[in-house]
Amino acid sequence: MAHQATISAPVNIACIKYWGKRDTSLILPTNSSLSITLNQDDLRSTTTAQCDPIFSPGDKLWLNGKEEVVKFGGRTATCIEVLRGWRRDLEKDKGLEPLSTYPLRVASHNNFPTAAGLASSASGLAALVFSLATLYSLPQSLGQLSLVARQGSGSACRSLFGGYVAWREGTQPDGSDSIAEEIAPRDHWPEMCALICVVSDAKKGTSSTSGMQRTVETSTLLQHRLTIVPERMSSISHAIKERNFDSFAQITMTDSNSFHAVCLDTSPPIFYMNDVSRSIIAMVEELNRVSGELGYGRIAAYTFDAGPNAVIYALEKWMGLVEKSVRRWFPQEGIVEVELEQEGNKVLGKF
Ligand code: PMV
Repeated sequence: MAHQATISAPVNIACIKYWGKRDTSLILPTNSSLSITLNQDDLRSTTTAQCDPIFSPGDKLWLNGKEEVVKFGGRTATCIEVLRGWRRDLEKDKGLEPLSTYPLRVASHNNFPTAAGLASSASGLAALVFSLATLYSLPQSLGQLSLVARQGSGSACRSLFGGYVAWREGTQPDGSDSIAEEIAPRDHWPEMCALICVVSDAKKGTSSTSGMQRTVETSTLLQHRLTIVPERMSSISHAIKERNFDSFAQITMTDSNSFHAVCLDTSPPIFYMNDVSRSIIAMVEELNRVSGELGYGRIAAYTFDAGPNAVIYALEKWMGLVEKSVRRWFPQEGIVEVELEQEGNKVLGKF
């Protein structure tokens, strides 16, 4: 019978964005980043890995039921190669069954609606790495596995952890210290909720890989950003530790805007946000202006990845108001609400 392991990994959304590689093959970032893992049972990639000596030679991979080519030397192949090597060492040390010599079959599914417009590479690669590590009974820590997931897709290294996660850029040329670590577990601040506002589920025009490369090659503003991010990393970690939402929100929104400014400073420029995205920014800023005047401080924080969809963070007590405001100001027909039946996280469908 085939050896098998099934594992699921969640999506993460960065508050301090990773944008730029200093080493494109090892995927070493130009700056550290920090994200929140959108947790529990929804918004996950589930991956089953099997190996068996009777399988036909060569590794095979299916994503959402469709077979993908595992390109030799490609990112998925690199992750498999490292994990197989670790298994080989273990077999030599402990005289274990030579699973490392068996062909692999890997099938991965995302349980979140494609209409959510979320990038699935982070959860997908994290699930792939963790399912193989489980299949091979590897003793390596989550931190060590994050070094492998990082080489599959940079942001995937953060999805191996729950809660609040930092990816340290590191200084070693071999990437051995470019590692993810949990800075606080989810239950440290359980009131934190996320609302995903789907502006478009179309595939993004410029992939993060080519966008980052263009930014590194052409943006002078990126150099300025790189001098600012270390301070932001420490202030947001502090805000999270202190559960200071006002400060968390200020840093999250500033960093999202700084990332999109750097995209605009790229040549040719990259426009990930659209008019609806900008209207969402205006709405959240206005909510925060009023809540600030009333003495509550900021109550919501928007952030945008490499696309027009907004993720709005808010504490549970304010999420009702935030959601109502989104529906009030973006009432276009065809709203599909996908309740995720989990502590406050919701996906609003197309609007
Ligand atoms: O890991 P990638 O190549 O999908 O890049 C992710 C880039 C952003 O989502 C824009 C920022 C981040 O830190 O997740």
